[in-house]
Amino acid sequence: MQDRILVIDFGGQYDQLIARRVRDQHVFAELKPYNAVSVADIKAAGYKGVIFTGGPNSVYDEASPHFDPALLWAGIPILGICYGHQLLAWMADGEIRSAGSGSEYGKEVLSVTAEDSLLFTGISAESVCWMSHTDSVVGLPTGFRVTAVTPSCPCAAMEDSSRRLYGVQFHPEVTHTACGTQLLHNFLFDICGCRGDWKMDDFCKTEVAALRGKIGSGRVLLALSGGVDSSVCAALLAEAIGHQLTCVFVDHGMMRKNEGDEIEAAFSKWDIDFMRIDASERFLARLKGVTEPEAKRKTIGEEFIRVFEDVGKQIGSVDFLAQGTIYPDVIESGLGASATIKSHHNVGGLPDHVSFKEIIEPLRFLFKDEVRALGRELGLPDYLTRRQPFPGPGLGIRVIGEVTREKLDILREADAVFREELEAAAARGELPEPASQYFAVLTDTRSVGVVGDARSYGYVLALRSVTTDDFMTADWTRLPFELLARVGSRIPNEVRAVGRVVYDITSKPPATVEWE
Ligand code: XMP
Repeated sequence: MQDRILVIDFGGQYDQLIARRVRDQHVFAELKPYNAVSVADIKAAGYKGVIFTGGPNSVYDEASPHFDPALLWAGIPILGICYGHQLLAWMADGEIRSAGSGSEYGKEVLSVTAEDSLLFTGISAESVCWMSHTDSVVGLPTGFRVTAVTPSCPCAAMEDSSRRLYGVQFHPEVTHTACGTQLLHNFLFDICGCRGDWKMDDFCKTEVAALRGKIGSGRVLLALSGGVDSSVCAALLAEAIGHQLTCVFVDHGMMRKNEGDEIEAAFSKWDIDFMRIDASERFLARLKGVTEPEAKRKTIGEEFIRVFEDVGKQIGSVDFLAQGTIYPDVIESGLGASATIKSHHNVGGLPDHVSFKEIIEPLRFLFKDEVRALGRELGLPDYLTRRQPFPGPGLGIRVIGEVTREKLDILREADAVFREELEAAAARGELPEPASQYFAVLTDTRSVGVVGDARSYGYVLALRSVTTDDFMTADWTRLPFELLARVGSRIPNEVRAVGRVVYDITSKPPATVEWE
């Protein structure tokens, strides 16, 4: 069994990043909400170590997330980060103060005061770290010592090495902390004794075996959208169970231009059972009058399942429904302690009752770039593993307000122009940075313009392009002005219902990638 680290989620903004950073070091990390695991679970699962995340609370607030202090005596190494550091001190009877004057936000100079600390092995005596806290540890718990300080934080790191308990007030998981990667490496390998055995080919073999065990001779229906996640999921299931799998591509009428035909062409070549279903009428009927983003997502998510149930009945004796849900979908749908950002249609949008024995989600624990790596491992062509992501609810969440066939047609044409121009510029090497995801959004605002000598009153179309590794955070792409100029001129000319084109220059956070 591979080594595993448990990241206990106390609601901090970088929680997923911590799990990512651990996996970057080839150690499998699981993220679980603080109220979903007990000390007994942790011991039984055999985790090599536990990391407490940050969080927005103050440990003395009654409503704050806490953890059973018995964990400190379980013989399992713990690393507390930010709120997790304060919580560790609190659990071990230390003192924390809401330190108005000691709060720090941003880069600070970290000075290591204990050269013999295993956690700081190979880390320079002074380096830059990233701080974001109001409270501080002011009274060390018994058995602990301070191992690092900053100018305004006398306990930037502490440890009780005899119990392998470590706390850091700064955030080692963000790249601004120069020693972050080394520090996590020291914790994982030197303190927890991990071996770095999390590799994609192992995941692939183990998952194929697990899927065979679970599915037996059952039949599986896979919701295939043609996106990276569901394509990789199809390849994994095809490897595991061959023709017991039927892949169903539900065309909900909210795909991009020509996309339905392209998907059909790509998958018809594979040795799998593939079906395409045109369900656009029923989706649009359900979406009539629905304008609120969460309601739209849930409506689309529910209708997907209903279509699959109908297909299941047609095929007969389908036991499992498979979906390409990935880890960020699970986390962002609010199943952890972090706030619900949006219900990804394939997680939080599921209705309570579905007529399948079980839903299987073999990619549920993988981040996007791990999914791509798995796709390569399974021999999927580059054009499938490298595709930009496309959300399950499709253009439905890129038409702001009520979704109608007419608005979808307008958006489809405008979006195709933007993608064509951007891809052409990328192929000519004109983009200063890669665009990870790019699309158009049809807003529900109209603006006045002049066409010929007449007044026009067309839609405002927003262009969005982001650059990101993992889609958990993203920066807007610095697209060349010449490219924007071409698109800004072509779209109103070719798509007459659009009167104005704007470019979205908001990063994530505070915005999200999609507008709804
Ligand atoms: P956000 O908008 O949450 O998007 O910053 C992050 C990434 O997730 C995609 N996304 C979805 N994918 N179902 C999906 O399969 C969904 O409901 C969904 N919502 C957003 C989004 O396109 C981006 O790549």
